[in-house]
Amino acid sequence: MIHGQFPTIRGRRLRVNQSLRDMVAEHHLKPADFVAPVFVMEGENEKVEIPSMPDYYRYTLDLLLEEIRELYEVGVRGVNLYAKVPEDKKDNKGTEAFNPDGLMQRAIRAIEKEIPEITVMPDVALDPYSSYGHDGIVKDGEIVNDESVEILAKMAVSHAAAGADLVAPSDMMDGRIGAIREALDEAGHKNTGIMAYSAKYASAYYGPFRDALDSAPGFGDKKTYQMDPSNVREGIKEAQLDEQEGADIVMVKPGLPYLDVIRAVKENVRVPVAVYNVSGEYAMIKAAADRGWLDEEQVMLESLVGFKRAGADLIFTYFAKEASKLLL
Ligand code: PBG
Repeated sequence: MIHGQFPTIRGRRLRVNQSLRDMVAEHHLKPADFVAPVFVMEGENEKVEIPSMPDYYRYTLDLLLEEIRELYEVGVRGVNLYAKVPEDKKDNKGTEAFNPDGLMQRAIRAIEKEIPEITVMPDVALDPYSSYGHDGIVKDGEIVNDESVEILAKMAVSHAAAGADLVAPSDMMDGRIGAIREALDEAGHKNTGIMAYSAKYASAYYGPFRDALDSAPGFGDKKTYQMDPSNVREGIKEAQLDEQEGADIVMVKPGLPYLDVIRAVKENVRVPVAVYNVSGEYAMIKAAADRGWLDEEQVMLESLVGFKRAGADLIFTYFAKEASKLLL
């Protein structure tokens, strides 16, 4: 017969109240963990809600500055910047991508002037600038690597010249981190860092984002440059290569379906690891919460702490402001 003391070890002793739970919590979220992706468009005094991303907006630059100030005030320390390029400025050469007076470059300069304390990380990839909606240059139906890398390096230098703190190449061309590092150094931007999208998968979770920038691929898909969702060792290889080529931070993207990749990358590189909690992950929580099927705040915080448990040092998330406010 089992006596009164059974069991001797009781895990529930450390769960009896919030104070104890707080004391033994292994991971903690803080606003500085988050990087907010932000979308800028031409015009003045206008914001447009992204249809598949409820409560998320594209802003004209004047309003974006106010939004970024608010993000900084709630403790967010980094923004990942994307520009919506007018249709008539798109081509197959990425011309507008390195225009010193392009929307992206103007936005970087304005943020650095108005809110210099925040870390600005502009996206480096051609898709918003491409008449084909691809991240590189297209020739005979192929997304060509080395010519694309040349343009991406120019684009990164133009961002650095505008004042970017780190550039964030999301294109998945081979060798681009090394080429960007070399181009930045040659142009005298030795302190501009590289936040590399290293293990970036060809994911259907990017759908809502492509609504935000009107950047869906015009033909085919991105499977010849973005990774196959079946692979984890290849993700480690990509992250290690980027580290060797000079990446200051490496990223795994998307987030929730790839927690194992975050852990694997974390254990195999010595630079900080970021994760991108992408648009489709945001949209799923928003849609379910809207129907009353999930508690938005709790599911959001549970997802975010899951990234830290998996080993992420930084979390790119559309929930940056909402989560930070709850954590203040
Ligand atoms: C473009 C880019 C994409 C995202 C970030 N940068 C889309 C894509 O690769 O097609 C997706 C972000 C998201 O879904 O939140 N290079």
